[in-house]
Amino acid sequence: MAAGSVIVIVPAAGAGTRFGGQIPKQFLPLAGKPLIQHVIERFLLDEIVERVIVPVTPQLLSGVKNSERVTFMAGGETRMQSVVRGLAEAGDAELVAVHDAVRPLFSATMFHAVIEAAQAAGAALPVVPLTDTIHVMSEDATIASTLDRTMLAAAQTPQCFRGSLLRDVLARAEREGIEGTDEAGLAAGFGYTVRAVPGDPRNLKITVPEDLAVAESYLQQWGAS
Ligand code: C5P
Repeated sequence: MAAGSVIVIVPAAGAGTRFGGQIPKQFLPLAGKPLIQHVIERFLLDEIVERVIVPVTPQLLSGVKNSERVTFMAGGETRMQSVVRGLAEAGDAELVAVHDAVRPLFSATMFHAVIEAAQAAGAALPVVPLTDTIHVMSEDATIASTLDRTMLAAAQTPQCFRGSLLRDVLARAEREGIEGTDEAGLAAGFGYTVRAVPGDPRNLKITVPEDLAVAESYLQQWGAS
């Protein structure tokens, strides 16, 4: 993989309301620096990354370091709109990765496996098997049906795409008024092949306050190894 061959978009303009509190979760401190700073630095350490584009609410950026390989820009109304804006900034990039601002614990090995799979198939993402059984619930809090767990996988990021493919997918989604929560799912929905590679349960999406303590302990373990 050539140096500088991937542009990474990190949508970070969310209000993070599920976490509670005033500061969106991507700006909360983890081991002494904002969560999003961990994510940006991890990508900047990787020489295959040309640039990291971060759609964000600019007023929240105080305390987040700038660098010449990082572009901060205003985000959109939804996650998908933030990615659309980031992709416009990426120009005609051949390979584009999209990564949640609240997943600071992805490994370079996994990122590279996703990129290689996307180079071959057009689109790729890391997935992990589900450990819980998933039920479809009725409105009265009773079980309507139970899904076959062996057919299910939980999506993680970084996801990676040929730039032309992602531009087509997002343009079609916008035209058809479809609001995706994950670009890989949109791509598959439009008929593209999306290859799955093994994700990592430690690559958690910081969603509730307890996740920060877990992430901190993983970071310590990695620092010690
Ligand atoms: O809300 P959720 O956890 O699904 O958000 C996933 C990612 O999308 C987060 O990194 C969040 O900051 C980002 N996002 C965004 N613009 C929005 C809403 C969410 O960049 N308008």
